[in-house]
Amino acid sequence: MSSEKSESLLPRRSLAVAAVLFSVICVYLCSSAVPFSVSPIRAETPEERGFRHLTTKPYLTPDFDDEVFAQLYTQWDEPSLKAAEAATPAERRALTFARYGLTEFPGSPRTTALQYTPAPDAGWTMNCLACHTGRVAGRVIFGAPNTHYLLQSLTEDVRSVKLRLGKRLTHMDKGSLLYPLGGSAGTTNAVMFGHILLNYRDPDLTFHADRPLPVLTHHDVDAIPWWHYKHKSKLYVDGFAPKNHRALMQFLLIPRNGPDKFAAWEPEYKDIEAWITSLEAPKYPFAIDADLATRGHQVFEKNCATCHGHYQVPSPLAGEGARRADEGATAHPWQTTATHSTLISYPEKIIPLEEIGTDPVRLNSMSVGGRERYGTTWFTYFGREPVVADPGGYVAPPLEGVWATAPYFHNGSVPTLIDVLKSTERPKAWHRTPDGYDTTRVGLEAERLDAVPPAIARDFRARRLYFDTTLDGKSAAGHTFGDKLSDEERKAVVEYLKTL
Ligand code: HEC
Ligand code: HEC
Repeated sequence: MSSEKSESLLPRRSLAVAAVLFSVICVYLCSSAVPFSVSPIRAETPEERGFRHLTTKPYLTPDFDDEVFAQLYTQWDEPSLKAAEAATPAERRALTFARYGLTEFPGSPRTTALQYTPAPDAGWTMNCLACHTGRVAGRVIFGAPNTHYLLQSLTEDVRSVKLRLGKRLTHMDKGSLLYPLGGSAGTTNAVMFGHILLNYRDPDLTFHADRPLPVLTHHDVDAIPWWHYKHKSKLYVDGFAPKNHRALMQFLLIPRNGPDKFAAWEPEYKDIEAWITSLEAPKYPFAIDADLATRGHQVFEKNCATCHGHYQVPSPLAGEGARRADEGATAHPWQTTATHSTLISYPEKIIPLEEIGTDPVRLNSMSVGGRERYGTTWFTYFGREPVVADPGGYVAPPLEGVWATAPYFHNGSVPTLIDVLKSTERPKAWHRTPDGYDTTRVGLEAERLDAVPPAIARDFRARRLYFDTTLDGKSAAGHTFGDKLSDEERKAVVEYLKTL
């Protein structure tokens, strides 16, 4: 409907009301000291509200406070300890952020890191961005898995500092003594946290402390990029859970949050879902060879599209993304880079484990009974939105923004796209550089090793910075669909993937 037409359809009375309102606003603005141009009178959109809730409201108990944060460096080994002691407070904050995978709030730093929400009494409360927003090629990208987050080491250091300062331990400090939080940087045992938390609840979320612990298969997974959310109807790497805003609230199941809190916070999580749904994939910020990408598109259509979907044909201007990557990047605090959407159709297929052949631990860590139980709870409207109880495999994900989601596969076992497409060359172990991006193999810049060096393997902290594919749940096997391609075809497909 054109705007002219809609105006002419407006009843006279509402026009009169609008005129009165307009003059009231005018009188108010003209008489106030605030200049007209800086007084935008506009209601917040649902996604703006969602972003505000997520980054300003502490939904959980604080994990630590400013004082504990400032002392974390005292737990470090040499030479890091000496460097931190010699540093200014600002430099020490930067060293501490880099060490645990934290980032400043882009544009307007706060007392806490972006991944922690400020809470009363100088508290830091972990928020969703701890796992769901981090640096890619040195820049913060909202919704990108935080592949630097070192939750286990951070929690151990927090606990030691609290014990020294005589401060109370919280659920994270104690929980991490019983369950591993994550064995390598950037991946966490999040699926098992969810399993433990749900175990103590009735379907209506009433809490019972007196239940035996469920059977747990601890393992690490990489978070899922949030710009895929809008393309899906089911959640998680095995696609078992119905997509709704309630699913986003599972993380809040700590004992002090009862059914009343879930009901009260539901509208806020609808807004948070609106924000997540609004996110788009970041554009590749480096040069692209448009001719090669066009050849890659054909290879992709023939070998990959039946599982991963169809996307736009690369434009002759594909490489322009490099120069214009920052275009329009300031409208909202979360728009730190230019974004786009290239997906045309997406089949959302679950590929049986026998066919995909990637690590089986995540799939088997949840039983059919466990998924069915989730399917009886408040999160699924007591079964009105059904679960897939026995998915039998992993979902082939959309590939928009795939350049930014390294390391690859659900367990984050493969550092680059060339490796995804040549299973025989994948490194047995690897160690990434802090912020390097490999534009040739496309993905993390990493040292490729036949094994984790023995001295590192013996050091339980240092080894978290190395990915060891021989460990349980960390296999880099499977997805051999690229093996039959020639090297030239493989390079072309990877060039094409940069355009998505
Ligand atoms: C400790 C890390 C961590 C935190 C904190 C966290 N998540 Fe996640 N999230 C994950 C991991 C890991 C997965 C992938 C799990 C899987 O599929 O096996 C995931 C998956 C998801 C998905 C599914 C995406 C998809 O496309 O299927 C959504 C949505 C999501 N998280 C939302 C949230 C929200 C909202 C919060 C905060 C209330 C949150 N997460 C907090 C680690 C985390
Ligand atoms: C039979 C279906 C199927 C085909 C064909 C297929 N894939 Fe996949 N792909 C998958 C599944 C399933 C996964 C998820 C595996 C996992 O995480 O364990 C995946 C994962 C990926 C990933 C990793 C995504 C990430 O962010 O972790 C990339 C990249 C990828 N595929 C690219 C390709 C390309 C390029 C081709 C064509 C040469 C291709 N795939 C062919 C099913 C397929």
